[in-house]
Amino acid sequence: MDAIADRAFRPETVPERTPVPPFDLVIFGASGDLALRKLFPALAQRNQEGVLPPESRVLAVVRKDEDMAGLPKQIAARLKDEGLASDQIEGFLRRLTMVQADALKPETYKALKTALGDSERVRSFYLSTPPDLFIPICRHLAKADILTPTSRVILEKPIGRDLASAREINDAVAAILPESRTYRIDHYLGKETVQNLLVLRFANTLFERSWSSRDIDNIQITVAETVGLETRAGYYDKAGHLRDMVQNHVLQLLCLFAIEPPNTLEADAVHDEKVRVLKALRPIVGPDVQRHTVRGQYGPGQSDGQRVRGYAEELGHASNTETFVAIRCELDTWRWAGVPIYLRTGKRMAQRYSEIAVTFKPVPHSIFGSGPGCDRLDANRLVIRLQPNDGVQLQLMMKVPGSGKLKIVPRQLDLRYETAFDVRTPDAYERLLTDVIRGDQTLFMRRDEVEQAWTWIDPILAGWQEYSPQPHRYAAGSWGPSQAIGLIERDGRSWADPEIS
Ligand code: BG6
Repeated sequence: MDAIADRAFRPETVPERTPVPPFDLVIFGASGDLALRKLFPALAQRNQEGVLPPESRVLAVVRKDEDMAGLPKQIAARLKDEGLASDQIEGFLRRLTMVQADALKPETYKALKTALGDSERVRSFYLSTPPDLFIPICRHLAKADILTPTSRVILEKPIGRDLASAREINDAVAAILPESRTYRIDHYLGKETVQNLLVLRFANTLFERSWSSRDIDNIQITVAETVGLETRAGYYDKAGHLRDMVQNHVLQLLCLFAIEPPNTLEADAVHDEKVRVLKALRPIVGPDVQRHTVRGQYGPGQSDGQRVRGYAEELGHASNTETFVAIRCELDTWRWAGVPIYLRTGKRMAQRYSEIAVTFKPVPHSIFGSGPGCDRLDANRLVIRLQPNDGVQLQLMMKVPGSGKLKIVPRQLDLRYETAFDVRTPDAYERLLTDVIRGDQTLFMRRDEVEQAWTWIDPILAGWQEYSPQPHRYAAGSWGPSQAIGLIERDGRSWADPEIS
């Protein structure tokens, strides 16, 4: 094997970037689903890797008595499920300080102040709470004089429920902390494959040259889940899928896919370019909302081979909240003019996968004639699979070997992460939490990004209220309502099938 190939296939270890400074991370909403499923496991993983300095602490703010004793046990059970050894679990729990407090009461902050002491450690406050608590918590932190000159606050998406409420939150937080210490988290930006989008485009001349309406026919972004409402009825039924997934995750994917090359990976350079993409999204307003969008809600059906209830049954009452969204949109820029972008995301769909499928234009003229075997030249297709089985797949037309009649068929160049790299793929929160402490904002959302995204989303919400207050039904375990198929078929196209299993 030559030197380059040898280097490419050797197991690699990922070098740590700048070391994580000593910190105190305070988690509000520590007994919630997100903290238990994602935040504690991510921190424990980083602890196990020796990335967290020994004197650093995690302070878990919980409201109920029973959580004071119960949460550490729940965390331990969760870490065990994640495969951590008992000494690692104990090591992580030793970093944990439990604080019992109600985030809306001033006394809370006295207890927190005492727990924090007057250390020089970087203080980060993770607000893993509904967005209506963001402003009161920040104000209490300021009033209680807990914020040091390096303190930072982490806000979980969605920021608000429309442009007005997002602005209100952003204004109130800005009165307390500068933008440079406000981290708006969208965990999709911490996913390895999402970061790889920038590398794919800007570390390879091959794709960048054809990344435009000149060569691309259409773009499809799918984020399909098989899970239903889970335990989040209170939040999800008020938010709906457009706010929960499209305003943030799906639009962030679109931004990274479509941006102009930033000069560097420095946070503001990337944010500036993302904002330009969001500003270029053609507004979907008034009656166009009916034409260019589809909202759906799952009914009973089958998921992963099991019979499952419909959304309304899970909820216990009828609801007009959407659990599926499909949108046809366009970017009004020189690069992307005329390229339709189809977005599709939903719960209880047939298969769990997220990907960006790019279909290139067909060859302008076939030199192979129109006889059987060479009458159909499929357009090249690039699939960037985000999860599961992350990787990149490129569909090319190939000649079937043999000396008989010429036969041309599509075949795939298939680059999977798991085979290309012999390293563990970290969870998105592992990367993002340590980025906060290091002070790197590149993979977070700047205020204007969030507000620009709402500027595009709000008219869709208004249009739905006016023209389609009731979502279309789809069976759990299907690909969404038939109207979503109609949305793309109207353009003479179809949704890409998931080609990576
Ligand atoms: C969250 C949404 O942000 O992302 C959830 O609130 C969704 O509704 C989740 O299930 C999906 O994340 P992932 O990483 O599993 O694709």
